[in-house]
Amino acid sequence: MGVTVVDHPLARSMLTALRDRNTPPPLFRLLAKRLALVLCVEATRGVPTAPTEVDTPLAKTSGTRIAQALVAVPVLRAGLGMLEAVTELFPEVAVGYVGLERDHATFEASMYYSKLPPLEGRTALLLDPMLATGGSASAACDALAKAGAEHVTLLSVVSAPEGIARLQRSHPDVDVFTVSIDHGLDDHAYIVPGLGDFGDRLFGTL
Ligand code: PRP
Ligand code: URA
Repeated sequence: MGVTVVDHPLARSMLTALRDRNTPPPLFRLLAKRLALVLCVEATRGVPTAPTEVDTPLAKTSGTRIAQALVAVPVLRAGLGMLEAVTELFPEVAVGYVGLERDHATFEASMYYSKLPPLEGRTALLLDPMLATGGSASAACDALAKAGAEHVTLLSVVSAPEGIARLQRSHPDVDVFTVSIDHGLDDHAYIVPGLGDFGDRLFGTL
């Protein structure tokens, strides 16, 4: 499993603002989207391309086009905060959804919704901003693998070492792009220092 820490100064400064407990939901949403743009650009360097030709106002020249439509799968709810960035960068993207919720006592994720487009032989961008215990990401990857995804890249804003280790065990072929690997988890399986509950801060349900 490849883990890439996207440490562009823009990404780090936006994450700092997301961490700030005083950042209100409207700004949190804006920053989440902008940060997802940076993550998505970094994570899609290897997307298949094909040569093409283009007429500039002055001459014909060779160029590049994206050769394969991607599939994006946000994990409800928090992953929705990253979706618009991907649809703006890749307007042809197909979008599937996975709904997962952590149990407050066991921290295990259970799936309450799944609607995936055909994934056979395709690359899926899994959007989930928090990789904490790794239970949600592992369950989402199970669903994507069952649906035939050839390769999965997880876009995560903040990751815990515990979550990375669990995903590494359950899905060693998944690549992870994250802005930060934080210190670890607290007794409630929240990432420390983290940024709190991403979904609640995104949707103003604190
Ligand atoms: C959050 C987050 C991840 C999950 C990460 O979702 O968005 O999906 O926790 O935790 P894990 O790695 O320990 O599984 P949550 O269950 O809070 O649901 P929500 O997005 O609907 O708020
Ligand atoms: N989910 C969140 O939203 N935040 C955490 O720190 C852990 C799981």
